[in-house]
Amino acid sequence: MEREQEINTATLPQHLAIIMDGNGRWAKQKGFLRTIGHENGTKSVRVTVESCAKLGIKYLTLYAFSTENWNRPKFEVETLMKLLISSLKKEIKTLQSNNIKLNAIGNLTNLPESVQKELHEVIQKTADNTRMTLTLALSYGAREELVHAVKKISNNVKNNIISEEAIDESIINQHLYTHNLPDVDLVIRTSGEHRISNFLLWQIAYAEFYFTEVLWPDFSEDHLYEAIISYQNRERRFGKTSEQIIPEKNV
Ligand code: FPP
Repeated sequence: MEREQEINTATLPQHLAIIMDGNGRWAKQKGFLRTIGHENGTKSVRVTVESCAKLGIKYLTLYAFSTENWNRPKFEVETLMKLLISSLKKEIKTLQSNNIKLNAIGNLTNLPESVQKELHEVIQKTADNTRMTLTLALSYGAREELVHAVKKISNNVKNNIISEEAIDESIINQHLYTHNLPDVDLVIRTSGEHRISNFLLWQIAYAEFYFTEVLWPDFSEDHLYEAIISYQNRERRFGKTSEQIIPEKNV
């Protein structure tokens, strides 16, 4: 808890995105089935969501299921889908009491109907919440998102809804699944892997990265604080010089 005191609430990342990795290895190390790792991963999801809301982070995005994850063994995919449904049913109360709005990005129509139904219900019920937006990336792949956006834009050009000359970064943003979210400020990836794995490629253009060896089911409030403190000790220059960012460096 001491580390929480070191956080400057004025310079929190506005949008934190997390690649929750290592559930399978966590289970294997303990001699359990991989799916037990995912079950325990949901506990870290709960802790992280509540801690972020408490700190004052406005947008939290979690990579819960990638387009590539469909290639996992059928039993694992089915268990992940069941876990999603049970977590949504269980956590709706926590979302409401913490004033958290649920959002989802990805090729959602690929999800089983039962997941889509639960998801839409919770999204609808929490639509007016304002403290934090929790986005679940489900059946999500950044390249698929870009293909989807390009198709929508070209269709709009074909139907004279937008002109080719009007296409700029803002138009592309508006056609992404994340159109209602700001750019990502900080990406955390657990389990010691240093990869992006097709996550939010457009939105992380100026993000900071924090990698930790901790496996997702072991990720605690203190690990989250550690990541935020590291982020707050960095200088984000967005292509400018250090002196332009901190003028006193000129003297
Ligand atoms: C990566 O670990 C994790 C996933 C593919 C799924 C993440 C899902 C959860 C934490 C549970 C459900 C989510 C919500 C939002 C309720 P891995 O299986 O790739 O681990 P490994 O690399 O050690 O095999």
